[in-house]
Amino acid sequence: MAPVSSLPSEILALRERLRGRVALLAHQYVLPELARLADAVGDSLELARLAAERPEGEVLLMGVRFMAESAALLAGENKRVYAPVPTAGCALAEAVRADALARALEESAQRGREVVPVAYANTDVAVKAVVGRHGGAVATSANAVAVVRAYLDRGKGVLFLPDENLGRVVAWTLGLREEEVRLWGEAPVEDRRIRLFLWPGACPVHAALDAVDLRHRKESEPHARFLVHPECPLPAVREADAWGSTRRIQEYVESLPPGTRVYVGTEERMVRRLAEDHPELDVRLLLPRESAVCPYFAALTPERVAEALQAIAEGRGEAYEVRIHPELASDARRAVERMV
Ligand code: 13P
Ligand code: SF4
Repeated sequence: MAPVSSLPSEILALRERLRGRVALLAHQYVLPELARLADAVGDSLELARLAAERPEGEVLLMGVRFMAESAALLAGENKRVYAPVPTAGCALAEAVRADALARALEESAQRGREVVPVAYANTDVAVKAVVGRHGGAVATSANAVAVVRAYLDRGKGVLFLPDENLGRVVAWTLGLREEEVRLWGEAPVEDRRIRLFLWPGACPVHAALDAVDLRHRKESEPHARFLVHPECPLPAVREADAWGSTRRIQEYVESLPPGTRVYVGTEERMVRRLAEDHPELDVRLLLPRESAVCPYFAALTPERVAEALQAIAEGRGEAYEVRIHPELASDARRAVERMV
C-alpha cells in the first residue's frame, strides 16, 4: 500500500495529536492519501454506521454533506460530527427539493393513492424528514434493493428518489415488469399496475457511462472484468460482470486473481487508489475521464482537511460541525434508522 507521507507534515502531526479523540472517517472518493490517513474508509452506509459505533466523542467525516448529515443523525446528541467542507453537496441531492416532494406525496394521497417514499441517502436532511413523516425510509446503493422490496412485499406503491438510474437497477434486480415502473408524472398515480415510481434525477459522473462503448470494450478485451456503480445507466449495468456500492466494488476487485485487468465504473479517485493499492492487478477507469471526477469531492483537499483538524484541535470546530435543524431531526432520523 502506498504511504500517506505525500501529505504535508502538519496534517500528519495533527492527525496523531487527535487520535483517540476524533475518529477520522473517509468515503471511498477522497484523494488516496486522505483515505490512507483515515481510521476507516467506507461506502456511505458504512460511514453512517461507523460514526455511531466509534468510541471517540468526535468524528471528522471526509465526505460530502449528505454523508455527514446521515452520520450526525445516527451519532446522537453526545457526539460531534464535523465535515472538512460542510457545504460540499451532491448533484443528486440538488435534484429533489423537500417542498416538491411533500407536494407530490400530498397530491398523490388526495388522488386516493398513498405511495411510500424511499429516498437515496444522497439527499438533503429536509428531504429525509419528509420521507420519515410519510412512513418511508432512506437507502443507499448497498441496500436499496432490500428496502424497496420490503415495501413492495407489503403491497405498497413506492416512489424512489432521486436517482432514476439506481431505481431502474433496483427494478431490474427485483424482476419488475416494464409496465410496473414509471417516471413520476409520466402516468397517473392511480394506476395500481405501477408499483415503482422513479424521480428523474441522475449523477453526472456515473450517468456518462455508455453501454455501447462498454460492450465494444468487452468484445475487444474478453479477459477483462467490468464493475460498475448502480448510479450508471441500467443498459451499462446489465453489460457489467458485477455492480454494487463502492464497498462491494472494492471487495470484488480484491477477490480477483493477480494479473487480472479490471475496469471500474466509478469515481476516478477511488479507481486510482485501488490501482495504487493493488499493483498485482491492472485496475483501470471505465468512466469517461473528462467527467469521472466528482466536482463535489474535489473540494475536499488536504489543505481543507488540515484546516478542519487544526480548528478541532484548538477547540474551534463549530464552523465544521454538521448540526441538524431540530425541527427536521426526529423525522429525518426515523427515515435513516430504517436504512441501518
Ligand atoms: P456509495 O454509497 O456506494 O459509497 O456511493 C455514494 C455515492 O455518492 C456514489 O456516487
Ligand atoms: Fe453525488 Fe455523483 Fe458525486 Fe456521488 S459521484 S457524490 S452521486 S455527484
